[in-house]
Amino acid sequence: MTETEPVAFPQDRTCPYHPPTAYDPLRATRPLSRITLYDGRPAWLVTGHALARELLSDQRLSTDRTHPDFPAPTERFAAVRNRRVALLGVDDPKHRTQRRMMVPSFTLRRAVELRPQIQRIVDERLDAMIAQGPPAELVNAFALPVPSMVICALLGVPYADHEFFEGQSRRLLRGPTVDDVQDARNQLDAYFDELIDSKLKQPEPGDGVLDELVHLQLREGVLDRQEVISFATILLVAGHETTANMISLGTFTLLQHPEQLAELRDDPELLPGAVEELMRMLSIADGLLRRATEDIEAGGTTIRAGDGVVFATSVINRDEDVYPAPDSLDWHRSARHHVAFGFGIHQCLGQNLARAELEIALHTLFDRLPTLHLAAPADEIPFKPGDTIQGMLELPVTW
Ligand code: HEM
Repeated sequence: MTETEPVAFPQDRTCPYHPPTAYDPLRATRPLSRITLYDGRPAWLVTGHALARELLSDQRLSTDRTHPDFPAPTERFAAVRNRRVALLGVDDPKHRTQRRMMVPSFTLRRAVELRPQIQRIVDERLDAMIAQGPPAELVNAFALPVPSMVICALLGVPYADHEFFEGQSRRLLRGPTVDDVQDARNQLDAYFDELIDSKLKQPEPGDGVLDELVHLQLREGVLDRQEVISFATILLVAGHETTANMISLGTFTLLQHPEQLAELRDDPELLPGAVEELMRMLSIADGLLRRATEDIEAGGTTIRAGDGVVFATSVINRDEDVYPAPDSLDWHRSARHHVAFGFGIHQCLGQNLARAELEIALHTLFDRLPTLHLAAPADEIPFKPGDTIQGMLELPVTW
């Protein structure tokens, strides 16, 4: 490892589909660098692809965010880290038990079965957007409602409540203040508490994932109420915010790459690979967090027990040893093995679903609106700051 001044982490992107230019020096110090977190605390930043996959599979790195040594990227995160987070905040062996409960609802086969329903949702949202426009604001008209409706149907959450839970999810992930984050958690807790009550009152379970959790796991005493709430929160929040950002930022990126967009239009067979390449290039979950529970020899140095370890997926996914010309968008490379969905035991539970949604949403959008273009200069369109999931804050388009 080369010694250099620690870089502050996280930082804002300068272009929404490239890693922050402030991380450029980190490419030279691959695979591991020192960073400073918002509170001045030092941590390790993993930037090399091989090392990232090695460490993300290493059981000596914990995701238990309730531990006082767990690295916090923001004050907001620190303020709620004592709260239980199902799956993502749980280590093995408990994680394995939780994950097993969820896997049947998120298999590839399940995602394939959901495709007609996803297509219907995408078509309806586009019908509505086209009826009202042009122009349109694509985040609210399309990118957010599509995954929101899909996850509601899958979980058994009423979409009629979408303004409430989308708003609270936004506050949970972006604040802006610590109070916002705490209040959003409390509001979501209360919401799911009520939803559980109403599901318990139904004589027969509905066919959502939460109905199953309530009627099988909660009733039978396998999970307690707080655990069900914690599952519901992560599934609902991770299930719509992430994919919404990929749809908005994916659309923006395609519009900024007309040659690649034209190629994709001419040959829809490229679509699955293109989704992987967009996932790699955009790396919207940029900064996965862990704490070392033991000393670990890695990248020519020793990560000490108690050290914070952060994975910069945007830099890892541009490791030129794995992806030649990593800053260019190329449908013909094999982008598989990117870590945009993470890696190891916590690798994204919803990845099959997310891929299906992205393929259908992007394909149908450009198929129905071949003349789609930005309705404002690209450099004036606001995108999200670096301390949250990356994506467009709004996306004015016309056709
Ligand atoms: C394109 C959209 C998505 C992206 C980029 C994404 C990204 C990620 C990443 C990077 C992780 C691993 C985090 C870590 O290791 O620290 C993760 C985990 C997770 N994701 Fe996703 N995700 C997406 C969509 C979804 C969807 C649609 C769901 C549906 C419920 C979902 C549910 C989860 C859950 C439950 C976990 C925790 C898994 C575990 O700890 O076992 N995600 N996601």
